[in-house]
Amino acid sequence: MTARGEFSSKFGFILAASGSAVGLGNIWGFPTQAASNGGAAFLLVYLVLAFCLAYPALMAELIIGRHAKSNAVNALRLISNNRFSYYIGSLTGFIGIITASLILSFYALVAGWMVCYFLAPLAELAGFQSVADWLTEFGLYRNIVFILVFMLLTVAIISGGVKDGIEKWSTRLMPALLGLLFLLIAYVMTLDGAMEGVKAYLWPDFSRAVDLKLIVSAMGQAFFSLSLGVGTMLIYGSYISQKENLSYLGRMVTFVDIGIAVMAGMLILPAMYVAQHNGVEIFDAAGRLISEDTLIFAVLPALFDTMGVTGIFISAAFFILMSIAALTSSISMLEVPVAYAVENHAIDRKRAAQVIGLLIALISVTIAFNFNTLFGLTISATTRFAQPLLGLMLCVFAGWIWQRNKVLAEIKAGYPKVEQSLFWKIWPSYVRYVCPVAILTVMAQVVFS
Ligand code: PFF
Repeated sequence: MTARGEFSSKFGFILAASGSAVGLGNIWGFPTQAASNGGAAFLLVYLVLAFCLAYPALMAELIIGRHAKSNAVNALRLISNNRFSYYIGSLTGFIGIITASLILSFYALVAGWMVCYFLAPLAELAGFQSVADWLTEFGLYRNIVFILVFMLLTVAIISGGVKDGIEKWSTRLMPALLGLLFLLIAYVMTLDGAMEGVKAYLWPDFSRAVDLKLIVSAMGQAFFSLSLGVGTMLIYGSYISQKENLSYLGRMVTFVDIGIAVMAGMLILPAMYVAQHNGVEIFDAAGRLISEDTLIFAVLPALFDTMGVTGIFISAAFFILMSIAALTSSISMLEVPVAYAVENHAIDRKRAAQVIGLLIALISVTIAFNFNTLFGLTISATTRFAQPLLGLMLCVFAGWIWQRNKVLAEIKAGYPKVEQSLFWKIWPSYVRYVCPVAILTVMAQVVFS
C-alpha cells in the first residue's frame, strides 16, 4: 500500500467533505426536484430523510473509512467477520466504484453546462454574440466539448493528491458561493412574482408528502446530496486524522450541505415565478415543469437579465462558482476508482486518474449522444436506487457485521467521552434497525407498486 495523504486540519476536512457534498445536487438537483414534486411537501420529506436516514449513513461511512484507512473495498473486507461478509463487502465496494463512475458521467455533462453559462456572458461582453448563443443553446457538440473540458479539470486536480489537490481547492469556494447565494436571494425577493414562489416552497400540501414518487425522489436526493453509498465519504473519512471528533465533523457537513440546498430552493423557486411573471414559460398547460433538467438554465438567466449590465457580471460569477462547486464534487467521485487503483493495484496516481478519467469521459459522451434515453435513466439508476441501497449495506456493515466495541473504540479515538453522548445512545441501534428497515420499506414499495 502506498503512503496515504491526510487532511491537514479539521477545517480542511469539513471544507473538502462539504465540497464533495455541495455541488450540482444542491443548486441544480434539489430545487428542480422540489419544483416538480410539490415544493414545500418535497422540502419537508427531504429534511426528514436527510437528517434521519442520510446523516446516520454518513456517520457509518466516515467511521468505517477512518478505521480502515483505505478505499471501500478494502475497508469492508477489513471489518467483515466471515467469508460471506467478506464477499458481500467486496461486492458492495465494487458496485460503489461503478456507481461513482456513472454518477460522474452524467455529472460532467451538467457541470459542462455550468462552464458554458459562465463563458457565455464573457463572450457577450467581448462582442461575440454568436459564440454566446452557441454556448447557451442545447447542442451535441457543445455538450461534448464541455464534458471533455470538465473531465480534464477533474483529472488534473485528482492527479495532485489529497492536500494539494482536494483540500486546496475546496477551502476557497464555499464562502464565496454562500455569500453570492445570500445576495441573490435578497435581490430576487424584491421582484414581482417572488412571493408566489416563496409560498410554493414553504407552504406544504401535506397530502402530497405521502406520494411514493416524492418519497423515493427525496430519499435519492438526500443520498446524492451527501455523496453517500459510493465510497466517497468513506475515502474522505480515511483521510481524517485520529484526533478528530467524527460525530462533530459529520454533523457539520450535513448542516452545510442541507443548508445550502434549502437556500438554493429559496433562490430558484421564487426566481421561477419571477421568470414566469416576466413571460418565460415554466409550466405546461397541465401545470408540469416544461423542462426539468434545464430548468435553472432558463430561470436564472431570466433573473440576471432583469439586472441590466450588472446581471452579466453576476451571471458570470454565479456560474463560475457553480462550476467550481461541481468540480469539488467531481474530484471526490473520481477519487473513488482512483484510490482503488492506487491502493489495490499499485498503479501510479497520475496514470490511474488519466485512464479512468478517459473511460468516464467516454461514458459521458455516450450519454450525450443518447441524451433522451440515457440521461434520466442513469440519474435514476444511480441516485434513486444504487445510492440508497449501498447506503443500506454500509449501515448493515456498521450495525451488524462490525463488532460494536471496535466501532466504539474508533469513535473514541477523537472523542473520549462519546459513551456519554446522545450520539452513542442512539446511533448504533439506529443504523442497525431503523435505517435498513426504512430504506428497504421505501424500495420495496417501489418494486411492488
Ligand atoms: N453530493 C454531490 C452534489 O450534491 O452535487 C454529488 C455527489 C458527489 C454524489 C460525490 C456522489 C459522490 F460520490
